Amino acid sequence: MCGIVAYLGRRHAYPILMNGLYRLEYRGYDSAGLALLNDDLQVYKTKGKVSDLEAFVSGKNISGSVGIAHTRWATHGEPNNINAHPHVSPSGNMALIHNGIIENYVYLKEELIRRGYKFRSSTDTEVIIHLIEDFMVNVEVPLEEAVRMAMDMVIGAYAIVVISKHDPHKLIAARKASPLVVGIGDGEFFVASDPTPIVEYTKNVVYLDDEEIAILELDQELKIRTIRNQEKVPYVEKLEMNLSQLEKGGFPHFMLKEIFEQPRSIRDSLRGRLNAAQGVVYLGGIRDFEQKLVNAERIIIVACGTSWHAGLVGEYLLEDIARVNVEVEYASEFRYRNPIICEKDIVIAISQSGETADTLAAIELAKQKGATILGICNVVGSSIARATHAGSYTHAGPEIGVASTKAFTAQVTILTMMALMIADKKGTIRRSRFHQLLNELEKIPSKVEKALLLNDKIREMAEIFKSASNFLYLGRGYSFPVAMEGALKLKEISYIHAEGYPAAEMKHGPIALIDEEMPVVVVATNKELYDKVLSNIQEVKARKGIIIALVKEGDTSVANLADYVIELPDTEESLMPLVATVPLQLLSYHIAVMRGCNIDQPRNLAKSVTVE
Ligand code: AGP
Repeated sequence: MCGIVAYLGRRHAYPILMNGLYRLEYRGYDSAGLALLNDDLQVYKTKGKVSDLEAFVSGKNISGSVGIAHTRWATHGEPNNINAHPHVSPSGNMALIHNGIIENYVYLKEELIRRGYKFRSSTDTEVIIHLIEDFMVNVEVPLEEAVRMAMDMVIGAYAIVVISKHDPHKLIAARKASPLVVGIGDGEFFVASDPTPIVEYTKNVVYLDDEEIAILELDQELKIRTIRNQEKVPYVEKLEMNLSQLEKGGFPHFMLKEIFEQPRSIRDSLRGRLNAAQGVVYLGGIRDFEQKLVNAERIIIVACGTSWHAGLVGEYLLEDIARVNVEVEYASEFRYRNPIICEKDIVIAISQSGETADTLAAIELAKQKGATILGICNVVGSSIARATHAGSYTHAGPEIGVASTKAFTAQVTILTMMALMIADKKGTIRRSRFHQLLNELEKIPSKVEKALLLNDKIREMAEIFKSASNFLYLGRGYSFPVAMEGALKLKEISYIHAEGYPAAEMKHGPIALIDEEMPVVVVATNKELYDKVLSNIQEVKARKGIIIALVKEGDTSVANLADYVIELPDTEESLMPLVATVPLQLLSYHIAVMRGCNIDQPRNLAKSVTVE
């Protein structure tokens, strides 16, 4: 997955493109490039980050008010200067940027080579610009038609933007299964993978749909045609985003800012949906499917990574409170294993970005089988948000750090409300208990605020453990998904190997790893399984493992056994994941900072995984 941005208007395009690339860098950061139209077509690209590109173009001709730019996460072809985008047509007259994967590129490339075309890169992308030029030269069609004909031939996912020396006042953009949004300014257009490069210039945007081609011309209205050559009326939406959401706001990293935003983001997830005083929980986005959800005999949750962990908390909540049968599936496994899906099933797809390819494919599969698909997404207008029948946005605000933090707690917040809503309607919990849980849920943002006060203490702990090579995270019941999420956070940003395990499973294997070098984080906040967790801690201690325990305020038994203790504000067991995850996010963050890791852009990762 990559980030793309383009501009057409009367301003100097370069700063807009560069600014846009910085905003989109979370999507990929192994190489970057841009092309500008001035007296000629100027193309600059280099291996490395956007800052490397900026240094590379310094002193070069960067004039022009039309341009395209790209930040790459390599799929086909290693990250180097040649494979970086934009890719240029054989004549050198046109340039193209692409996010996605062209699945039939080998066939298309062989065909073009047979006809005498020469390729410079080892990417799948280069075939597209060759095809477009081939249609322009040999069929003599205008640029937009050549793009349409070329995109009709490719199989796969794409968001592309093309510029041509011969059409210096035109940008052509097209998408299928990769996001693309067009910003409409006053006599100018912006195109980007998400609205973050656009928001400071205009709030008017059009999200392109699959197989749509946008034709952007100076002083003309936006035109949209489909690959089947049908005209479409652009649907202009207003962006609800502001610039401060895209800045670090005084924090050294987006991840830390986003961890500290959680009291606010959880409040935003609850806003207008939860009224504890009146005993109401209402998810407007899924109102048309509410009854179906209440009557569902089975709910299947599909997601990846952190969103999958949120799904696991959702399973515990829905089964525990709403007494409905739930299965949580890795989207990537679900889609390929011929799962049994019935029309009566409700599938809940969870995704921060709303662009995860495996989750999207799982949705399509479930849709084909007639299931009802509900989404829990953070990014408004994203592919998953549009592919689902209905859904609830998490309203966490843009999450820019690659390691997901506030999106997780927002997803769990929505799942909690869903479980409570179903439970109340089905009568699986007493009304008094329902009120109790609503009241407690309303207090969660202030409990998270309290958990954030542990920051200094956790930084000190990080100092002790920053050189560890392995970590084990253990939890039971609701704490198990928290342990998994804690381990994922640590490994993705600090590169320390970490495993999240159900505490009782430890003795079936991982216990062999425990020695005096092994820090074991035990999420020991459960009331019901408290004694069992105590025994698990004893088992670790007996093998000289170092225990870092997360306990509820006032706990003495675990605290006396543990080497290090993190005391959390008390809450209902079912709501504890919302609080207990926070110190684990902080622990990973501080360890990674102390190890000198790139916090917001960890190696090999990208924010949205739009490849299978
Ligand atoms: C989280 O820290 C990870 N970067 C990753 O596991 C992520 O949660 C996963 O790729 C799913 O993304 P999504 O929520 O955007 O679908």
